[in-house]
Amino acid sequence: MSTAEVARPEPLPDFLGFTTLDREVTIDRLPVTGRIPEWLTGTLVRNGPAKFEVDDYRLTHWFNGLAMLHSFAFTEGQVSYANKYLRGQSYEAEVNDGQLYGKQFGMDPCKRLFGRHFAEYSPNLSDNTNVNLTRIANRYFAFNEQPRYLEFDPTTLDTVGELEFDGQIAGETSTPHPHFDFGRRTLVNYTTTMRDRAAYQVFYVPENTLTQHRMATVEVDEPCYMHSFAMTENYVVLVEFPVVIDQEKFVQPDKSFLECFTWQPTRPARFRVVDKREGRCTAVFESEAFFAFHHVNAVEVGGDILVDIAATHTPYETVLGLAPTEDQFDLSAYGYQVRRYTLSPRGGASRIGWEQLADAGVEMPRINYRGHNTRPYRYVYGLGHSPRSIRAMNRLLKLDIVNGTHSAWYEKGCFPGEPVFVPRPGASTEDDGVVLSGVLDAKAGTSFLLVVDGSSFEELGRARVPHHIPNDFHGQFFADLHR
Ligand SMILES: [Fe+2]
Repeated sequence: MSTAEVARPEPLPDFLGFTTLDREVTIDRLPVTGRIPEWLTGTLVRNGPAKFEVDDYRLTHWFNGLAMLHSFAFTEGQVSYANKYLRGQSYEAEVNDGQLYGKQFGMDPCKRLFGRHFAEYSPNLSDNTNVNLTRIANRYFAFNEQPRYLEFDPTTLDTVGELEFDGQIAGETSTPHPHFDFGRRTLVNYTTTMRDRAAYQVFYVPENTLTQHRMATVEVDEPCYMHSFAMTENYVVLVEFPVVIDQEKFVQPDKSFLECFTWQPTRPARFRVVDKREGRCTAVFESEAFFAFHHVNAVEVGGDILVDIAATHTPYETVLGLAPTEDQFDLSAYGYQVRRYTLSPRGGASRIGWEQLADAGVEMPRINYRGHNTRPYRYVYGLGHSPRSIRAMNRLLKLDIVNGTHSAWYEKGCFPGEPVFVPRPGASTEDDGVVLSGVLDAKAGTSFLLVVDGSSFEELGRARVPHHIPNDFHGQFFADLHR
């Protein structure tokens, strides 16, 4: 299917989710309706773009907005809240100097913004770390899709400064979705090098250290764009969707990600399997072309590797070319499905197919990660789309991949964000806990933190924030973090 054949979504009636939030507040107690479980203790920290103008120009891609952190701290059924911009070099250049800094994801199609405003001193890598965050060695830091990390104080949300790992592997891209290997007690991710021979450098960081160790180097002729990857007990699987990166362009700061990408639908998607024990790529599988931002989970069963992905078959331009002034996600037009690809490293066909796991597709998939990542699992939480409403992700979904069914939370005029599952202490079942989601309430012009029962998927309560929270990306819950 060509891009031209994909129906363009209707514009949203308003774009509150892409409207700048200038206020930074600290609120000890948000008004709560319903009931938030008293066992829920800890802090949810979320990250996402919140400023969509540089000088007098409006940024034309969601992913370009300046990073803001939001924290929701839970204790005894009450919720406190704070929000603050990450203040790195990108923030200073864009807010104080009115100039872009570092490589952008999308771009103004007329290059007006770049021509007039792009800082001459800008490096290739941006520190607008607006996508995700994590903690290692008791240090909290935010990141985007490039190997730069901004450390922040998790209680004040103040920016501490740039964090550099010992032995940090220099590269041009990375993923904002590191895995944690609970068996080996290491964080795992990769960086793509492309100034010489292109390669994916898979690395790990032992718990309680800030040192990167190279696990494997996977050399490729043409690197591809991957936003996340799969990991099992013994393998890392890099799934190369055929969004090919032009290396020569990519090392130029004024070329956005999108300017360097080419969708090659006749080229297969390649599953590059890295054996953690051997520290090398031991197998490559191929399937028909597809694209995804997010992996869901991966499990080894009987010698096979099951790789579950929030996949879309449609041209990547439709998804990646998001312009806040035009569209939001339309999952039905993009053909989102949760797919399972089965790889047999011990033999069998190198050309693989897939099966659909549920009757609804999701974006921003999350699972009970601590209990079930790399292990057999049943439930996926994510964002979905209500076919009879406006074209946006406006439903919170729970998929049951054993029965292939789904349940949903929906409220007219509301737009939930990525669901984060928090297990109940002492839980004995996979879905015993709550799901947290920041919901943009377009009717009210504000947002609220929604708490849904993980099992019944019924709303338990909500805590309302006095302003809107622009559409964000990812968040993490830290049960031992208190404000
Ligand atoms: Fe992501």
